Amino acid sequence: TTTTEETKTEETPAAETTDEVKTYKVGVAIYQFDDNFMTLYRNELKSYMESLQTDTVKYDITIVDGKNDMATQTEQINSFITQGVDLIICNLVQTSSADTIVNKVVDAGIPLVLINREPLAYDADGKPLDEAYEGILNNPGVCYVGADARQSGTYQGEIVAALPDKGDANGDGVVSYVMIEGDPENIDAQYRTEYSIKALTDAGKEVECLYEYLDNWDQTTAQQDVANALSQYGDKIEVVFCNNDAMALGALQSIQQAGRTVGKDIYLVGVDALAEAVQDVLDGNMTGTVLNDDVGQATAAADATKLYVEGSAVEQYYWVDYVKVTKDNASQYVK
Ligand code: BGC
Repeated sequence: TTTTEETKTEETPAAETTDEVKTYKVGVAIYQFDDNFMTLYRNELKSYMESLQTDTVKYDITIVDGKNDMATQTEQINSFITQGVDLIICNLVQTSSADTIVNKVVDAGIPLVLINREPLAYDADGKPLDEAYEGILNNPGVCYVGADARQSGTYQGEIVAALPDKGDANGDGVVSYVMIEGDPENIDAQYRTEYSIKALTDAGKEVECLYEYLDNWDQTTAQQDVANALSQYGDKIEVVFCNNDAMALGALQSIQQAGRTVGKDIYLVGVDALAEAVQDVLDGNMTGTVLNDDVGQATAAADATKLYVEGSAVEQYYWVDYVKVTKDNASQYVK
């Protein structure tokens, strides 16, 4: 712990000059700055942490860009350790590297708050088991702050299932869809893909997957893939499921270019509730999205940080709920 002793400035009467100011160094490693959702998250995290400062407690926050490269991020964590930070907040590039990072940070005696990408227990084939990750369970100095990706997928499917035709725009009895996926290693992408469809089949709909595209959360890649899908499958495509809004915004551009109309002959859903996507929901250009609460998650991560540096008890998991966003409630989520 870094402790700086400072004599108070002129405003303070001379008699009260002995207060100690503690400055905690917090290292924040983000998987990639070039990500719409994580940009909202990191800005919120910084400003909320600053708002937690008092006359005697200060946070010296350093935020670094992992550039979607695990080796780069590992170096950044090493450097935080060498600098002797008081706490590390980490948005892993690869959850499969969780052990390496967790062990390093725990060995250095530094508390670790993992955010956004939940490490799980995996089977021998790398398939996620429905079990919590031992690196968190076994280490009181490590916690995870996030949202349950299954819930977001379920909400996407429920938004479609609640439509008058349950997503069966062409009335042939089957919902034919394309799935636009984020980074396949990310549990958010895996669960959203699985649970969105599960919600539809649970609602009694027959489904047909025309194609799954791996678009790494990226708008431009999704735009190209949806353009290809629309030229290949044409009117067969009734629903475009996107694991996030950035990709849904790309999908929308291609849907409009192909002369298709959301809400009429095709449906489009995303996740995150980015400002632009919420506006598209209001305007009827997107069927719906799901709020991924960056403010709630950033707040929880900063609160956990405060507890750790104060030496208070910290829970192992902090969960923040997703919220369905459709035309009915979208006005509440305009940012
Ligand atoms: C968000 C995506 C984001 C990803 C980064 C997800 O929870 O929905 O938009 O790209 O996190 O890990």
